[in-house]
Amino acid sequence: MLVLGIETSCDETGVALYDSERGLLADALFSQIDLHRVYGGVVPELASRDHIKRILPLIEQVLNEAHCSKQDIQGIVYTAGPGLVGALLVGASCAQALAFAWDVPAVGVHHMEGHLLAPMLEETPPQFPFVALLVSGGHTQLVRVDEIGQYRLLGESIDDAAGEAFDKTAKMMGLRYPGGPEIARLAEKGVSGRFVLPKPMTDRPGLEFSFSGLKTATLTAWQKCLAAGDDCEQTRADLAHAFQAAVVTTLTIKCQRALQQEGLKNLVIAGGVSANQALRKSLESMLVKHGGQVFYARPEFCTDNGAMIAYAGCQRLLAGQHEGRAIHVRARWPL
Ligand code: KG4
Ligand code: ZN
Repeated sequence: MLVLGIETSCDETGVALYDSERGLLADALFSQIDLHRVYGGVVPELASRDHIKRILPLIEQVLNEAHCSKQDIQGIVYTAGPGLVGALLVGASCAQALAFAWDVPAVGVHHMEGHLLAPMLEETPPQFPFVALLVSGGHTQLVRVDEIGQYRLLGESIDDAAGEAFDKTAKMMGLRYPGGPEIARLAEKGVSGRFVLPKPMTDRPGLEFSFSGLKTATLTAWQKCLAAGDDCEQTRADLAHAFQAAVVTTLTIKCQRALQQEGLKNLVIAGGVSANQALRKSLESMLVKHGGQVFYARPEFCTDNGAMIAYAGCQRLLAGQHEGRAIHVRARWPL
């Protein structure tokens, strides 16, 4: 089955063609980061307008790249939520209009299910069951995955998501949006030991996360440096290093706990923060000690993309699930 996948939940227009027999045939992405950067974050109205501009040319592009015609498409999949409603509506209405015109089924999928299944597009996909750590700009969740569609939430953040904490901390330190990759780059030049930051909720049992206290502790440390007239590049790098180390250690401890609790060995990490090299290394060395394995997508499929949506939706269409022609999107939607 050949499906067209469309992702427009935030500031990336992603389109892909996935075939259940031949795998991923083409994917294309337009990132609006430059558009939003001057505002220090995503401006919803600008995001919706830009998706409208990009979506049809990107669909043409993937059809050309895959040497397919619109008659070859057997189903259309789009992100139905969670995300920015205006942005979601662009992808959903485009998907439903094309599905009506081409007389094929359409299905809306959960954005985080897309992230969760993205490692399935890699050469060595994870085997079920596994524990998944979903770490993006809007979510930090530990989920037990028994098979596609069978997800049990084990724990989540009670305040900021990990990606959100990266973005907000970066902003306060005068770094560019999005902050995750900026902090990661800066942290490489940082030295450990100079700043000691809390590792939130690791000293008590459970699988919940909290990142807002860590963000405030980092701000306090940064303000002290500024008051002392010490805002040099090395200080910034040392603080970025300490912040990243606190997040990575916290996530690693909770992943280890979740695997132990569930009696599982396989861990999947997905979402934008799973592109973080320090996190990957830390989880890999934890799992080597425990005889397990960590799986993740290639960097461009860790952040938002159309390929993960095409894959997730293709599984749903193959299972006979599709919807009518109504357009449903949801800003909030539990997995
Ligand atoms: O999954 P994603 O593209 O969008 C959402 O669904 O939210 O994740 C975006 C988040 C942003 O907060 C961004 O700062 C973070 O992922 N991110 C990273 C890295 N690359 C992206 N955080 C830490 N290290 C990275 N290398
Ligand atoms: Zn995402």
